[in-house]
Amino acid sequence: MHTVAWPDGRIVPALGQGSWKMGEDARRRQEEVRALRVGLDLGLSVIDTAEMYAEGGAEEVVAEAIAGQRDKVFLVSKVYPHNASRSRLPMALARSLKRLKTDVLDCYLLHWRGSVPLADTAEVMERMQQAGHIRSWGVSNLDLAEMQRLPGIAGRMIPGSADHAPGCATNQVLLHLGERGVEFDLAPWMAARGMPLMAYSPLGQGAILDHPTLASLATRHNCSTAAIALAWVLSRPGTMAIPKTGTPHRVGDNARALEITLDSTDLSALDTSFPPPRRKRPLAML
Ligand SMILES: NC(=O)c1ccc[n+]([C@@H]2O[C@H](COP(=O)([O-])OP(=O)(O)OC[C@H]3O[C@@H](n4cnc5c(N)ncnc54)[C@H](OP(=O)(O)O)[C@@H]3O)[C@@H](O)[C@H]2O)c1
Repeated sequence: MHTVAWPDGRIVPALGQGSWKMGEDARRRQEEVRALRVGLDLGLSVIDTAEMYAEGGAEEVVAEAIAGQRDKVFLVSKVYPHNASRSRLPMALARSLKRLKTDVLDCYLLHWRGSVPLADTAEVMERMQQAGHIRSWGVSNLDLAEMQRLPGIAGRMIPGSADHAPGCATNQVLLHLGERGVEFDLAPWMAARGMPLMAYSPLGQGAILDHPTLASLATRHNCSTAAIALAWVLSRPGTMAIPKTGTPHRVGDNARALEITLDSTDLSALDTSFPPPRRKRPLAML
C-alpha cells in the first residue's frame, strides 16, 4: 500500500477521501455516508472536509460516517480565511469539532490565504496544537513564495532532527494529470523538507477520465481510468490524493490505485499526453 509519512512521524495511507459537495442534498446523504464508510473499510482513512463545504453540512455527513470509528480516521478540516484570525480561529475550530462530533482534528488547514496575516494564523494554530485540539496544522492553496515566508518553516530542513519544529505539516493544492503546475517548484520544495503534499481534485473533477491514454493504461492494469489517474498522483514523491465520490460503487475503483505501481513506460506515456510544466506558472486553484 502506498503511504505518506506525516511530519510528526505518523504513517498515513496515500489515498484518502474528499467531501466537497457532500451534505448539499438531503436525498444523497445516506449514499454519501455509505461511500465514506466503504472507503474506511478499504483503508482510505484520511478524510478531508471543510467548514465551507455545504456550510458545515459536509462535516455533519463525515460525522455520521465515522461515528463509532473515530480512531480509524485521520480527520482533516479547513477554516475559511476570514475565520483565521486570532479571535475567530478558535471559535471556528470549536464549531467544526462540534459538527464532526469529535474533540480533536488530525490536521487543520487554512483553506486559502485571505487578509489575516499568516503569522497570526500560524501562532493560533500552534497554540491550539499545544492545547491538544488539533494534532497538526497546515495550509492550502499557498504558492512557493508564500510557503517560504510561512512562520514555522524554519527548522524544517532536517526532518527528525532535534531542531525540527512541528510547524506547518502540509499544503493542500490542486494537482492532477491535467494540472501539473506545482511539479515545477512547489512540490520539490515541499518534498525536500519532508512536507507531504495533499493533492486535491486528483481526478480533475472527472474531466480527465475519458482520455484515451488513461483508457489504454486502465486496460493494461485491469482497472478503471480513475485508478490510473490516482496511481499517477501517488507516484509523485511525498504526495497523497483525496478523491471525492459520493457513489459507493466507485470507491473500490478509486481504492485500487493503492495497489497499482506505474512503470517507466506507463509514466512516459502519461508525460507525453499530459506534459509536465516547463516554466513557473502562478498556482492554479479552484
Ligand atoms: N483545498 C481546496 O481548496 C480544495 C479544492 C477542491 C477540492 N478539495 C478537496 O479535494 C477533494 C477532491 O476534489 P474534488 O471533489 O474537487 O474532485 P475529484 O476528487 O477530482 O473528482 C470528484 C468528481 O469525480 C467523480 N468521481 C469520483 N470517483 C470516480 C470514479 N471512480 N469514476 C468516475 N467518476 C468519479 C465524482 O462523482 P460522484 O461523487 O458523483 O461519484 C465527482 O464528480 C474535495 O472533495 C475536497 O475534499 C480541496
